[in-house]
Order: sequence, then C-alpha cells, then structure tokens
Amino acid sequence: MLHNILLQFGPGKLDGVRLLLTAGPTREPIDPVRYISNRSSGKMGYAVAEAAVKQGARVTLVSGPVALTPPDGVELVAVESAQQMHDAVMREVADCEIFVACAAVSDYRVDQAAQHKIKKTGAALTLQLVPTPDILAEVSALQARPFCVGFAAETENLEQYARGKLQQKNLDMIAANRVGSAGSGFETDFNQLEVYWRDGGQSIEHAGKPVVAKQLIDLIAERYTRARS
Ligand code: C5P
Repeated sequence: MLHNILLQFGPGKLDGVRLLLTAGPTREPIDPVRYISNRSSGKMGYAVAEAAVKQGARVTLVSGPVALTPPDGVELVAVESAQQMHDAVMREVADCEIFVACAAVSDYRVDQAAQHKIKKTGAALTLQLVPTPDILAEVSALQARPFCVGFAAETENLEQYARGKLQQKNLDMIAANRVGSAGSGFETDFNQLEVYWRDGGQSIEHAGKPVVAKQLIDLIAERYTRARS
C-alpha cells in the first residue's frame, strides 16, 4: 500500500519546478477566413507537457490551435498567431525555471492582413511577408533567463544545423528531429530525437511520442539539475 502511494506520489525529477512550454503551429491571418500555417499537430509538445507534470513540474502550456485535449494538471494558454504566442510567453516567463520551445512558430506573417475576404480576380496575387519575433531567442537573451530548450526540425545535416541553432540562440539544449523521413516528426504519433548540448549529446530512439517525451524530460531534468549545482 505504502509502496503504491510512493509510486504514485513519490519524488519527481522536477518537483515544484516551473516549466513553460510552447506547442503546436501558429496561424498567421491573410484575411478573416484564410491563414498561413504548417503541419505541426502539437502531439510532441503535449506529450512533453504531460511527462513534465508526471515528474512534478508546474507546467504552463502556451499552445497554438491543435485538436488535442490538454493533459491534466497543465495550465493552458491558447493562442493563434506568433505574436500572440510571443506575448503570452513574455507574460509567463518571469518566474519560470525551464522554457521548452516545441512550437512550430511561423517564421513570417502577412504584413497587412486584409480586413475583408480577398476576392478572386483571376490575376496573380502577391502577399508581402514580414518576419515574426523569434520567441526562443528572445527568452534566452533575457537577463534572468530560464534553462532554455529548443527544437530543430531539419531535412538534412541534422547535427550541423541543430548545433548552429544551439549556439546562435544561446540554448542549453536542442532536440533535433529529421522531417520529411517516413514515420517520424510532423503528423505522426512517433518520433526520434538527437539531443545536443554544448559539450555532449544523446540519441532518443524511435518510439511513440509519449515514450520519447518521457526520456527527453528525464534528460532535461538531469541537465537542468547539473546546471544549477
Ligand atoms: O530557427 P528555427 O525556427 O528552426 O528554430 C526552432 C526553434 O525555435 C524551436 O524551438 C521553435 O519553437 C523556436 N522558435 C521560436 N520562435 C520563432 C521561431 C522558432 O520560439 N519565431
């Protein structure tokens, strides 16, 4: 009996730690009925949020539009655009100790979204796109900065590009996955990650996203605890 209680409520690897997480895609409006988005399902981010709760973390999940139920015990902040995701993260980040950026944030938005539905004319249509704020880079540049974990979805040169982002965005860890390869990443229930930090790295083998997320949270907890001591 006592054993069962300990198993259920025993010490977690992130007990009481405030973890802020982004997940899902963003939607950048073109007009009131159309938007630019991407193939992110949010499944990896939601699985990471659930794994963090199981390790005792206090999790705030800033999520773009997804067809998923938030895990029990998570505080959900629902957003649509990259700017809204940015503003929500900046509001929540002050007292958080770990930031995990799983979201597939649109890199561009339409400069001036139309007020009314754009009519079809038969002529070519040009949309002027402007960059969105890089949420992760902004968080990692804060003076009182949390332990920062990024994701990198790459189609080639995985380690080179992921390590480049680790350095450019001044991250503590980056989890890279190959996209475009069958059975991993976007729109599937499975993933495989190569996780890198400045002087090391570890592979998380191909498995269901909840299994991969648990291992990633274990690794984050280990590196975070080490960085703090
Ligand atoms: O540069 P790239 O978009 O590949 O970087 C991916 C990482 O940066 C992810 O962790 C993603 O959540 C984060 N990101 C962000 N804000 C953006 C673009 C990416 O937080 N505007």
